[in-house]
Amino acid sequence: MNPVPAVQIAGLVKRYGTAPKNRVVAVDGLDLTIAAGAITAVLGPNGAGKTTTIETCEGYRRPDAGTVRVLGLDPVTQSAALRPRIGVMLQSGGVYAGARAVEMLRHTAKLHAHPLDVDALVERLGLGSCGRTTYRRLSGGQQQRLALAMAVVGRPELVFLDEPTAGLDPQARRATWDLVRDLRRDGVTVVVTTHHMDEAEQLADRVAIVDRGKVITEGTTEELCRGGAEDSLRFDGPPGLDLGPLVKELPEGATAVETTPGSYRVEAPVDPKLLATVTGWCAAAGVLPERLSVQRRSLEDVFLDLTGRELRS
Ligand SMILES: Nc1ncnc2c1ncn2[C@@H]1O[C@H](COP(=O)(O)OP(=O)(O)OP(=O)(O)O)[C@@H](O)[C@H]1O
Ligand SMILES: [Mg+2]
Repeated sequence: MNPVPAVQIAGLVKRYGTAPKNRVVAVDGLDLTIAAGAITAVLGPNGAGKTTTIETCEGYRRPDAGTVRVLGLDPVTQSAALRPRIGVMLQSGGVYAGARAVEMLRHTAKLHAHPLDVDALVERLGLGSCGRTTYRRLSGGQQQRLALAMAVVGRPELVFLDEPTAGLDPQARRATWDLVRDLRRDGVTVVVTTHHMDEAEQLADRVAIVDRGKVITEGTTEELCRGGAEDSLRFDGPPGLDLGPLVKELPEGATAVETTPGSYRVEAPVDPKLLATVTGWCAAAGVLPERLSVQRRSLEDVFLDLTGRELRS
């Protein structure tokens, strides 16, 4: 792996709005180093500052403080040198709505010295039937796929994909994953944001979790999941069970939580005795524990533990 990081962000601050009362601190002293040649997933609740950070790396936004280097270049002052080397898929589309889909892709390919084969890419992303359709008339998922194709067709060294699979059907999601993996195989660095924890688990070599404008943790999925209880016992049951009596029976330091309505997790060293305690409590409470299983902490658990369970405005 290339020892020079693909992206280096130190102390990045980005605010929106001018009136002091309406000021939003979207990014608040964010530090992040992204390794070259790997897939890094940036996760975070809505409004955490992911898109703002990525758009700053792409040179679309100027930092209020801190430094950003992408492939060793300043995205604002050296954008002419940087732009041809990176591929960008914006969350907000960013594709001219009146242009015909495949024509636009061909045009973009011609702007690059060593583009990918457009026909193969079109085939691969299932855009064959969209040839003369304008971007605005494509379905949401087709627009996403076209935007992905536009981001990679120039064979960039580094690709930023902001929620590339949002709203895609399972087939298109998998086609996207395959494409992203092939990019890595070809030595391309990929930075991807997603709200799908399974996607991050499947794809990413490293994961960074952003909350309230800062990176709050970073590492491989395995490293992040190892941070807390090694394993847990889970089961489904009726929502809203009173877990107080169960917790009293558990060993010191163990916890029991309802992670989402009707899904329960007991965090403690899992051994046969713990299993007996939990099933005994279920029997006494008249609850049939469905899908009872012993599991490792998932990325979603880590995410919810670190960023909280309340909805973000
Ligand atoms: N152009 C803008 N003007 C004013 N506020 C903005 C603007 N863009 C983003 N914000 C605010 O900055 C904060 C961070 O937004 P950002 O889009 O970076 O979040 P995000 O992590 O990408 O969220 P999501 O997961 O919903 O895409 C939010 O509070 C948002 O409302
Ligand atoms: Mg976003």
